Amino acid sequence: MANVEKDLISGQNTTGHEWDGIKELDTPLPKWWVYIFWASILWSIGYFVLYPSIPFLKSYTKGYFNYSSRDELAKDLAVQAQQRGKWLADFQGKEVGEIAKDQGLLRYAMAGGKAAFNENCAPCHGVGGGGSLGFANLTDDEWIWGGKLEDIQQTIAYGIRSGHEKARFAEMTKFGVEGVLKPAEIDQVADYVLGLSSGKGDANAPGAQIFTDNCVACHGEGGVGMRETGAPALNNAIFTHIKGDKTSIALQVSNPQHGVMPAWADRLGAETVKMLAIYVHSLGGGEK
Ligand code: HEC
Ligand code: HEC
Repeated sequence: MANVEKDLISGQNTTGHEWDGIKELDTPLPKWWVYIFWASILWSIGYFVLYPSIPFLKSYTKGYFNYSSRDELAKDLAVQAQQRGKWLADFQGKEVGEIAKDQGLLRYAMAGGKAAFNENCAPCHGVGGGGSLGFANLTDDEWIWGGKLEDIQQTIAYGIRSGHEKARFAEMTKFGVEGVLKPAEIDQVADYVLGLSSGKGDANAPGAQIFTDNCVACHGEGGVGMRETGAPALNNAIFTHIKGDKTSIALQVSNPQHGVMPAWADRLGAETVKMLAIYVHSLGGGEK
């Protein structure tokens, strides 16, 4: 270090390097930088002692805490499973009516029911359950099969014409195809039903007697509908299987449309079906 000298402007020593008259100052590192440097070395030693750090071929240094993110995850999952298990036991052991009365369970059922509905039911019934042609509206108080919690639960669990042995099942007679009614009679009864649906059923119309003789057995007196036979009410403007014009009514009488709703109990489990029943019941038309 022969050429070390004091720089007059900065007051620092030079390092002794010189190139073409340019000299290098020997400026010390700033104090804050040095402190952070040492602190981070101390930190790394502490970390090394406490946590897993150095990898070997087949394992690694475990550290004093013996920490493993995999174990943490397993623990979290175990806690979750335990909490779910608690809910699950309640849902298994209680009737839908009891679940709906318990605020905590109700909230859980509504959240679970909504998620399951959007995933499984919305493709047919629409998000929110508004329905569309051929698919029942679940938000109104017009129920084909019943709007009590237990009715809805049964409909969802086993379906309608689903082929399940406990499915709800009913089939309207094919009056035209089977020759029970002549085309002229079908035309007259369709006229009468059209009137019924707009609230103007004409008891003296020729179709009225045909209706009494052929339709009341399933659809009820005055077309009020019958849940035991799955025959929808015809005395209002709500139609499920067809559009409500005269042609489609005549077609329904001649060769009926049959809605098919799948069974869900085996696919989703009885607990989810309970959640769904509670959710659907809440959509607007639920009956006590
Ligand atoms: C493949 C289409 C389809 C899917 C998916 C479907 N449904 Fe349905 N659902 C129907 C049809 C069609 C009807 C009307 C059946 C009939 O009575 O003719 C119906 C009727 C119902 C009814 C009875 C309505 C009444 O007025 O009595 C309920 C309740 C119901 N569905 C709930 C659900 C729930 C909850 C899900 C999801 C788990 C679901 N549906 C999934 C087609 C479907
Ligand atoms: C054996 C019972 C039965 C008889 C008898 C019957 N229906 Fe039906 N009807 C049903 C059922 C069940 C449905 C639901 C659709 C289906 O068959 O899947 C239905 C549906 C309808 C619909 C469509 C309603 C909607 O909301 O989409 C109309 C309209 C209708 N029937 C009119 C008649 C008329 C008119 C007669 C008499 C000529 C008649 N039905 C006789 C059982 C019956």
